[in-house]
Amino acid sequence: MGSKLALRGGNPVRTEPFPAWPIYDGREALALQRVLESRNWGGYPCPNDNAREFGSRFAEYHGAKYGIAVANGTVSLELALGAAGIKAGDEVIVPAYTWEGTAAAALFVGAVPVFVDVDPDTYCIDPDLVEAAITERTRAIIPVHLGFRFADMDRLRAIAAGHKLFLLEDCAHAHGGKFNGQGAGSIGDAGSFSFQTSKLMTAGEGGIVITNDIDLADQVIRIANCGRPARRASRPNPALGHNYRMTEFQAAVLLHQLERLPEQTSRREAMTARLEEGIRDVPGLSLLPRDPRITTQASYHYVFRFHSDAFGGIHRNAFVAALKAEGVPCDGRFYEAVYRSSLFNFTAEQYPEWGANLREYDCPVAVRAGYDESVWLPHEIFLGNESDVADVAAAIHKIRENVEDLVGFDNEAIRIQGLSRAERALLESKPPY
Ligand SMILES: Cc1ncc(COP(=O)(O)O)c(C=O)c1O
Repeated sequence: MGSKLALRGGNPVRTEPFPAWPIYDGREALALQRVLESRNWGGYPCPNDNAREFGSRFAEYHGAKYGIAVANGTVSLELALGAAGIKAGDEVIVPAYTWEGTAAAALFVGAVPVFVDVDPDTYCIDPDLVEAAITERTRAIIPVHLGFRFADMDRLRAIAAGHKLFLLEDCAHAHGGKFNGQGAGSIGDAGSFSFQTSKLMTAGEGGIVITNDIDLADQVIRIANCGRPARRASRPNPALGHNYRMTEFQAAVLLHQLERLPEQTSRREAMTARLEEGIRDVPGLSLLPRDPRITTQASYHYVFRFHSDAFGGIHRNAFVAALKAEGVPCDGRFYEAVYRSSLFNFTAEQYPEWGANLREYDCPVAVRAGYDESVWLPHEIFLGNESDVADVAAAIHKIRENVEDLVGFDNEAIRIQGLSRAERALLESKPPY
């Protein structure tokens, strides 16, 4: 390894790819072939055979009674809110630092998302600020278990119970994670997961709602299945629904992805710990403290903090560009303060409740994390072995040791890191037509 930074024309630390994602083998291939040959492809009747089996196995794995597999992890949030009776004019408290879909789900049921800042130690919603944001119109809280951490579910459960609020865990990053020994998504009133390509389990797209409340489960099925009642015995509640059903192809793949989850979870947990040993003392970086209540860590991304003033004065985006150039997949502006994001962009007329409730937000932790501080390493890095993780640590040390070469340096790779996700996606994607 030469010491000249790859961003400045030197040799990268890493030239081999990290483990490919998603992972599959003959089991997924056979399952897909079986669905194909069965000619029973769709999500109707709802739930269909594989979707029913997957729903109950996934729920059981996370300690919940019911699981309803659906089209993706945005509609699963929307379904859970709708099933809980959240409606126009209600307020739903969401973290300011998350994927835009968490807040969009509230808008999609006509409610008003209310942004609350995150805790700098976890980047998850700050319970003190949740309490301060509650009004007489608040009906729900959606904590997101972000990256590889959990929101403080002890505090949030007490707050939700005290104010009779629906507590919906957004577990899009937390498949297989446990808090105080309890599975993600089974701690609040309901949990929502995504199975989009990058997630810890995937069928390309997909989502699920898990819950212990049979009435809520029935309502989720009803809304996801065009308004049809879930069971003969279920509460008659005629209303319009959507078609948010999961296909049998997706469910067949997910049944096997679930089999792989325990081993993958342990490997990622062990490998993120090894990385921490390797980078703990790097000046200018700080690690998110471990919460002992996280009894099983789900590591969708490993996230750490970058401090420009202690790292030669270069910006986080220059560090991320340099790390990428060394052959390590990573991101900085992975999420941003949602209320400032270009994807959370609509008119007040489109969402009248939002328009009628416009307010100024100032969530400095989310803003700092999004634009200056956070560095995100994707989970597949941690599915490899110790030498893979050692390469990541070596690349980080190399940048630290040669940081003067980046002071004042600017190039296209760094400029791209400063763009929003939407802008970067446009740069990277093929034209649609
Ligand atoms: C925190 C969070 N919530 C919700 C979603 C929405 O999931 P999906 O992409 O499956 O709609 C995602 C995934 O992108 C996410 O990361």
